[in-house]
Amino acid sequence: MILHIPNVLSKEQLVECRDLLNKADWIDGKLTAGSQAVNVKSNLQLVENSQTLSYLREVITNALKTNPLFISAVLPNHIISPFVNRYENNGAYGNHVDNSILYDSIVGKNFRTDVSCSLFFTDPHEYEGGEMVIEDTFGTHEVKLPAGDLILYPSTSLHRVEPVTSGVRMVSFMWVQSMIRSAWKRSMLFELDNTIQSLRVKHGETQEALNLSIHYHKLIQEWAEL
Ligand code: NI
Repeated sequence: MILHIPNVLSKEQLVECRDLLNKADWIDGKLTAGSQAVNVKSNLQLVENSQTLSYLREVITNALKTNPLFISAVLPNHIISPFVNRYENNGAYGNHVDNSILYDSIVGKNFRTDVSCSLFFTDPHEYEGGEMVIEDTFGTHEVKLPAGDLILYPSTSLHRVEPVTSGVRMVSFMWVQSMIRSAWKRSMLFELDNTIQSLRVKHGETQEALNLSIHYHKLIQEWAEL
């Protein structure tokens, strides 16, 4: 499932984050790429262990943990500490899949990467190129979102970022270990939750909606890994 979540960050948060990013120090993104990805990655990355990154991680993680659409789609167990990338001067990231297990240095533990996310800090009109291209079972998807919006997709999908031929593209990227390992079960639960929500909007609280929500919670209890 590929899902666009609008307005993860508010306009005020974006202004604050952009201000911090404009003053930040950047390093070569190759330093954090996996062995396959290192050959195709050409971008900059916000310095780790910086105050800016710690603060942005807090803002982003808190925003995600309180976003109902994100929670419903991902059923997060752990959000691996986010990073921030900067693409300019033809910077790009060729076709790759993300590592299946990643170490979160803040928590000091390995986590499974079930869902990959990109949160945009720059608007589409601020740069040329830089489309994110994601391949899944339904074909190829080209993504270029407004600042503050997020795209999520299964971490097993092949994806790339096209060269940024002018301007600057800044994006935070992160991975999530879901309580539900299977992408199919996760998307089924998401659809069930959506159906229950729209039943409630149409008809208010009914016995049927309540019964469906009991099934929803039983399925989570049956399938969740904590
Ligand atoms: Ni990637």
